[in-house]
Amino acid sequence: MSDFSPQTCATVAKVIRSRHSVRRFLPASVSREIVRELLELAARAPSGGNVQPWRVHVLAGEARKALSVAILSEYEQGRQECRDFDFYPDQWREPWLSRRRKMGLGLYGLLKIAKGDKERMRAQSGRNYLFFDAPVGMILTLDEALGRGMFLDCGVFIGNLLTAARAHGLDTCVQDSFADYPATIRRHLKLGENERIVTGIALGYADPSAPENQLVTEREPIERFADFYGF
Ligand SMILES: Cc1cc2nc3c(=O)[nH]c(=O)nc-3n(C[C@H](O)[C@H](O)[C@H](O)COP(=O)(O)O)c2cc1C
Repeated sequence: MSDFSPQTCATVAKVIRSRHSVRRFLPASVSREIVRELLELAARAPSGGNVQPWRVHVLAGEARKALSVAILSEYEQGRQECRDFDFYPDQWREPWLSRRRKMGLGLYGLLKIAKGDKERMRAQSGRNYLFFDAPVGMILTLDEALGRGMFLDCGVFIGNLLTAARAHGLDTCVQDSFADYPATIRRHLKLGENERIVTGIALGYADPSAPENQLVTEREPIERFADFYGF
């Protein structure tokens, strides 16, 4: 017996399905109180031994802009930093290659960026560091003393955060791009060397007129990623 009504289940499913990554936000601000509520819900995430390894740096207004300026100055000079954690593979192979390609083609297609137009592609990538104009940007970190498996705990935390944001009519984009500039972020936010950069997250209200926000991504059918035993 469920504690919740079928309508509640349907609402939860609707909230989850309504989330998609937003890459252009409206200037409308998000209050500190709402962000606190989202973080409180996100922190209900389970974690190994209830260690709660996540740490979040929440930036708005001038603080958000200043971090963007610091990173963009590195990005525009073509400077590269040593990442704290690997993310994408060095050598892409199937089935991941096709999925990633499809997503990229879809996004650049909507933005009318021609294949091979490296300048515009780079400009679009650079927009990551503006948090896609979102009023709130977050940097999630993990202490180096903790095992990499605790990335998993951070992932559950992020999942909660994104769903809670959607329930408030807010939109998000998880942004690994920030993890390309760990030294700049640490220096700028005066973080300890022990704080490893997991990801950035943009939070705000989607600009409904932006072509890049029309991207609809597909998912593989369950049979492609799950095996069932003993049913
Ligand atoms: C860990 C993680 C890192 C991501 N990094 C970026 C990023 O740096 N820039 C970006 O535009 N989107 C980023 N995304 C968004 C993905 O491209 C997006 O989730 C995926 O294409 C599926 O689309 P959807 O979120 O609209 O369902 C990231 C998503 C996750 C979960």
